[in-house]
Amino acid sequence: MNKQTQDGSEGGSAVLAVGSVNMDMVVTCQRFPRPGETIFAHSFGTFPGGKGANQAVACARLGGRVTFLGKMGEDAFAEELTENLRSNGVTVERLSSSSPTGVALITVDDAGENQIIVASGSNMELSIEDVDRHEALFAEAGVVLLQLEIPLEAVIRSVALARRHGATVILNPAPACHLSASLLAQVDILTPNRIEAAQLAGLPTDGVPDATASAQTLLDRGVGAVVVTLGAEGVLIVTEEGERCIPAHSVHAIDTTGAGDAFNGALACALAEGRALDEAVQFANAAAAVAVTRLGAQVALPDRPELELFVGETVGS
Ligand code: ATP
Ligand code: RIB
Repeated sequence: MNKQTQDGSEGGSAVLAVGSVNMDMVVTCQRFPRPGETIFAHSFGTFPGGKGANQAVACARLGGRVTFLGKMGEDAFAEELTENLRSNGVTVERLSSSSPTGVALITVDDAGENQIIVASGSNMELSIEDVDRHEALFAEAGVVLLQLEIPLEAVIRSVALARRHGATVILNPAPACHLSASLLAQVDILTPNRIEAAQLAGLPTDGVPDATASAQTLLDRGVGAVVVTLGAEGVLIVTEEGERCIPAHSVHAIDTTGAGDAFNGALACALAEGRALDEAVQFANAAAAVAVTRLGAQVALPDRPELELFVGETVGS
């Protein structure tokens, strides 16, 4: 990374995650209901979620030094979500809103597939002014980690502040929306899944989109490196040096909710430790593989010893 730890503490440079925090309401059932149909669930539970918070926790569990900047309502969910972040070792810069804290309604079927509806609430109130007021966090960060569950203008300002202070920018463009060429040109590492990559590149999204073509288009628009996550197929990395594929680990997937978050949080952690991109992607690929073997977004995330056990070698030190 281009910014080293300033205070001499161990664990690499600091990571700043700017993004969403939700309470996930998760129902498991045999199959998804058809429109107008009522079915019985196997189970119901509430789990801390939101892409920004999930990625912050993923990074912290693996030993990263992470601050989360996000907006919550003045309600019981906000208290629970804040406490959860803190108990996972994340420093929380919590902004308050009169809108309710975000929630996500998630259905997981027996095949491990999910359907998600997000009611963004306070997440969509994070403003440019909020970001500006926290510029000091960007000055401290070596890596800034972003997604698209907050207003796009807040993302654009965060990217600008990260660049101003020399931090590496990881943008996980989920859920996908149109991103300008000027924004893409400021992103060091873009981490779409296959569909998001095609959407951003303006290529067809039906069938199985060509990840290489999408990534090359995005690289041509100025992104530093495009890392396309391919679910059970693994990861495609495309940089100016060329493209390479990293196969997924073979695991029994129970719930892929938050697989991308596990991947992005681990990627940020590894980059903040000073690892090169390909090595960091391998680390993230392993962390995400562990995460899909359990139900829930955050509760499924591995800690460092578990990940080291999984890969069968010491990945730290
Ligand atoms: P989500 O939106 O559900 O969080 P995503 O679409 O952003 O996920 P995916 O491409 O599905 O992200 O998965 C991210 C990464 O997780 C993959 O690149 C891979 O490393 C890992 N992964 C996902 N599914 C599996 C699987 N079935 N087996 C092993 N690894 C997996
Ligand atoms: O990526 C998974 C997350 O997306 C869930 O935790 C849910 O809150 C939605 O934001």
